[in-house]
Amino acid sequence: MSHNIIVGQSGGPTSVINASLAGVFKTAKELGAGKIYGMRNGIEGLLNEQYIDMTEYLKTDMDVEILKRTPSSFLGSCRFKLPSAQKSPETYSKIIEILRKLNIEHFFYIGGNDSMDTIKQLSAYAKENNITDITFMGVPKTIDNDLAVTDHTPGYGSAAKYIAATLKEIIRDAVVQPIKIVTIVEIMGRNAGWLTAAAALAKGEDCEGVDLIYLPERVFDTDKFIDKLNEIMKTKQQIVVAVSEGVKLADGRYVCELSDSSKAVDSFGHKQLSGTASTLASLVASKIDCKTRPIEFSTIQRCANHISSLTDINEAFIIGGVAVKAAFDGQTGKVGVFNRVSSKPYIMGTSIYDVDAIANVEKKVPDEWIINDGTYVSQEAIDYMKPLIQGEMLPYMVDGLPRHIKL
Ligand code: F6P
Repeated sequence: MSHNIIVGQSGGPTSVINASLAGVFKTAKELGAGKIYGMRNGIEGLLNEQYIDMTEYLKTDMDVEILKRTPSSFLGSCRFKLPSAQKSPETYSKIIEILRKLNIEHFFYIGGNDSMDTIKQLSAYAKENNITDITFMGVPKTIDNDLAVTDHTPGYGSAAKYIAATLKEIIRDAVVQPIKIVTIVEIMGRNAGWLTAAAALAKGEDCEGVDLIYLPERVFDTDKFIDKLNEIMKTKQQIVVAVSEGVKLADGRYVCELSDSSKAVDSFGHKQLSGTASTLASLVASKIDCKTRPIEFSTIQRCANHISSLTDINEAFIIGGVAVKAAFDGQTGKVGVFNRVSSKPYIMGTSIYDVDAIANVEKKVPDEWIINDGTYVSQEAIDYMKPLIQGEMLPYMVDGLPRHIKL
């Protein structure tokens, strides 16, 4: 038995997706893996036979440790939807042929709900074609935290920590002058509001917090928004609003489409969302006599590993190992998931779950966690998020800056 494995990273990067890669690498080595290959740019690269032997890059424990603390996807990523096996059987036979050439026994894919589609398709193809010598396992990741079944996803805690910490700084800045100003901060998360909800974490004994939080789970009404700002301004001059990039109007259009004519969509059909904060800031400036400042966190929130959550890094590493152990035990078509035992104290278990229940499913923020007529989130939401941002693991600092490992 070769015990060779291959691992790929897919979808948007995070601060801790490399910690999962490190978890896969280290656990596979400990379990006696032969070669450990990494796909360059996920399944898209693999189809072009682009891969590396990871042991050539990760020679020492220190290399693995730096990988753990390096944001984004070390192996490169892709947003590539596999065509169905009915439509393109040659794609699947080509993948199997490449895997066989490398004597791969275990295939791991680290990604979000779209990426888990790759595991779903490949494991189903293997089953249908009686391919029993290769297992296919998913490792969860996404800052969006919108994966079904798992309590949360690696990457979310660190992005949430960045968002809450940066909002505290934005609020300190916003209140410095006694003028009327509306600061609108746009947060990623596509159609799920988990990340935007993290804005609530900014509030504490040393910070007044954001005034309004708008999630994509609720229809956004521009008139109500202006009314709300006018109402708050009766008692407060500086207002800070957190808004999801994915908020939509009653007619189904994204708010950002009011001023953005971009038609860019990825291979999963997702529209590129951007410009919600500036659209709303222009609206506010046209309706209210005040200064406005739109801030789009954009990609900065994904890889801000100078303020990663230690909990997130550790869990990302662990879940990579969970997937490897399960695969070496013969499991296939599964994803590593987290099961919360309790929040106070924080106790988190792990297990594996059927990929069919996870691929392509978007988990939304529970309706009852959205309060104040859709303008804030509940204490329950805060209690859920709080443990995920705990602890710090600083990058290795060299010459005043974080040291990263790259291909
Ligand atoms: O999938 C995570 C995510 O960060 C979403 O929150 C966001 O909408 C999307 O990726 C942006 O993707 P890209 O950088 O590929 O445009």
